[in-house]
Amino acid sequence: MPDEFASVTRNDALADVIAAEIAAGGPIPFARFMELTLYHPALGYYRSGRRRIGARGDYLTSPHLGPVFGAIIGRQLAEVWERLGRPGRFVLVEAGADDGRLSADIAGWAARARPEFAAALAPLLVEPDPATRDLQRRTLATATTGHPPLWLDTLDELTAEPVTGAVLSNELVDAFPVRLFEVRGGTAYEVLVGGDAGRLVEVVADVPAAGLGARYRWAAARLADGARFEVNEAASRWVAAAGRALARGVVMTIDYGYPFARLYAPWRTQGTLMAFYRHTAVADPLAHPGEQDLTAHVDFTSFAAVGRRVGLEPAGYVSQREFLTNLGIHEAVVVAGLAFEETAARRRAVLSLCDPAGLGRVRVLLQSRGLDAGGLRGFAGAPRAWDVLLDGVPEEIQQEFV
Ligand SMILES: C[S@@+](CC[C@H](N)C(=O)[O-])C[C@H]1O[C@@H](n2cnc3c(N)ncnc32)[C@H](O)[C@@H]1O
Repeated sequence: MPDEFASVTRNDALADVIAAEIAAGGPIPFARFMELTLYHPALGYYRSGRRRIGARGDYLTSPHLGPVFGAIIGRQLAEVWERLGRPGRFVLVEAGADDGRLSADIAGWAARARPEFAAALAPLLVEPDPATRDLQRRTLATATTGHPPLWLDTLDELTAEPVTGAVLSNELVDAFPVRLFEVRGGTAYEVLVGGDAGRLVEVVADVPAAGLGARYRWAAARLADGARFEVNEAASRWVAAAGRALARGVVMTIDYGYPFARLYAPWRTQGTLMAFYRHTAVADPLAHPGEQDLTAHVDFTSFAAVGRRVGLEPAGYVSQREFLTNLGIHEAVVVAGLAFEETAARRRAVLSLCDPAGLGRVRVLLQSRGLDAGGLRGFAGAPRAWDVLLDGVPEEIQQEFV
């Protein structure tokens, strides 16, 4: 008997949009598929107005574990503000802020702990999606910052008038569309998305990928037959825009990722592309278009290299666990007079945020412009960021990063 009810688990309208594009022009690059599935203006995963993050969504991010995460980032940003000479306006640019709780938590901490810093704070959210922007407006309505929050569609709008402050993102860059490649005989071939009898299927191009830099040719030559890897070109555009947006201050990027030689290591056979649907990893990235999240780890070496070309110095690169610990996150659970339930909840949040097998392995990259960012508290005792990022890259390939 035919099913007379429409599917509640499939985004059929988006699948039709993708199928129509393939029918008109042939297989599309994976990055184009990812752009449509995550960011189609009406039907994309991040655009259809549904809550994606949190206990009832598809996955959890650090700001959802409680305000302690924002408080610790606030501590680090207040130190940056001091190093900048305590400017009267410190613009806190956050992109990909979801419901805005991280910016709100930083502002809340500043109002309680550092009122002079709160008085300088000027939140600026980069958010093109109107529904998400409304949500952010509601979250930030009660924030007491010296300057009222503002919104922009893209970071590029700041190029004309760069700001003093910070460009902050948490799990933004790993959500950018990536190109996907498969290795055959030491050479990379691009993986495209095509159609077959009404289904989306992967199509591996029959000619080697053209225009990939020497770093990827080096990586492909060491990878096994059939191995996959991703290239996040949007990440490079993003950090270049961040550099142009900032007159003085820091870019703080918190994300899953590795230095180049670890991300493209010969033992990694399946790249890092992951699909999440209701807290479960899904093997097929083409399943549930518009209904499941897709992410790929960030190549922090390429990211920092592009930053250097636009005047951002890599100033610190540590795990989230090290960063939060250095900034005293454990103090949050030893506050005198705290109710037992509150202490227990904080302890759970701190353990999750620092879990070496979970959120604790997220990386924090700090890039700076126009200030002495050496020895900032969150990065204390860490080796020089640029050395860590170039580790394992042979001399001749390092030329591409400098
Ligand atoms: C994985 S979520 C992270 C949300 C939040 N930062 C958190 O930690 O919970 C990624 C977010 O980045 C947004 N995003 C992706 N590309 C963007 C861009 N170019 N500008 C602004 N936001 C973007 C997505 O819409 C999504 O809300």
